[in-house]
Amino acid sequence: MEFSQGVRGRDQELIALFTATFTASEGASEGTLIGDLVRDQLSRTPAADLYVFTAESAGMVIGGAVFTRLNYDQDDRSVFVLGPVAVATEWQGQGIGRQLLTYALQTLREAGIDIAVTYGDPNYYSRVGFAPVTEAFIPAPFKLQYHEGWLAQSLTKTEMTPLKGTAHCVEAFNDPAFW
Ligand SMILES: CC(C)(COP(=O)(O)OP(=O)(O)OC[C@H]1O[C@@H](n2cnc3c(N)ncnc32)[C@H](O)[C@@H]1OP(=O)(O)O)[C@@H](O)C(=O)NCCC(=O)NCCS
Repeated sequence: MEFSQGVRGRDQELIALFTATFTASEGASEGTLIGDLVRDQLSRTPAADLYVFTAESAGMVIGGAVFTRLNYDQDDRSVFVLGPVAVATEWQGQGIGRQLLTYALQTLREAGIDIAVTYGDPNYYSRVGFAPVTEAFIPAPFKLQYHEGWLAQSLTKTEMTPLKGTAHCVEAFNDPAFW
């Protein structure tokens, strides 16, 4: 198993991985929605606002995680939101998701990113250091449907304090359907 940073020309494989994985777990329309989201993230996000991580086995992309920037207009800390993440169906449940996210978060830490945020199942993401936060503490770019899924962690030695100002996500995420 090899974990890497960057798309490195594997865009189509990565999009196909997300489409197939979410189709298998949540149905065809979710698969298409998430595949299209990843296509948009990869093609429309400025390089400085995007981190992509992959897991490969025998030269095949079997896992992926995307992080995009959240900007707060009254706060100069750097914040990235994780989503989506997928491990190919036949490779799930072997710790690859956890290893991929641990590698990704360590890379962000070394890059000096202050805070990682995600929006998902607290039971899963607590395994890699995320904990629930309120939208008053960390404003979300849209009104969230599922407040319990709003999670964050500090990537520095400093304890998190509330982020100030309005949150702005990248263009690919700028749709209430994702929130
Ligand atoms: C979620 C996902 C990325 C996890 O990857 P993975 O490689 O299977 O995860 P790991 O093997 O590291 O961790 C597995 C553990 O997490 C648990 N787990 C897996 N998916 C979970 C979920 N959605 N919610 C809660 N727990 C989950 C498993 O029960 C397992 O627990 P165990 O260690 O006690 O047996 C993968 O299952 C996946 O791609 N799912 C479909 C797409 C998806 O839902 N993505 C997340 C939302 S963006």
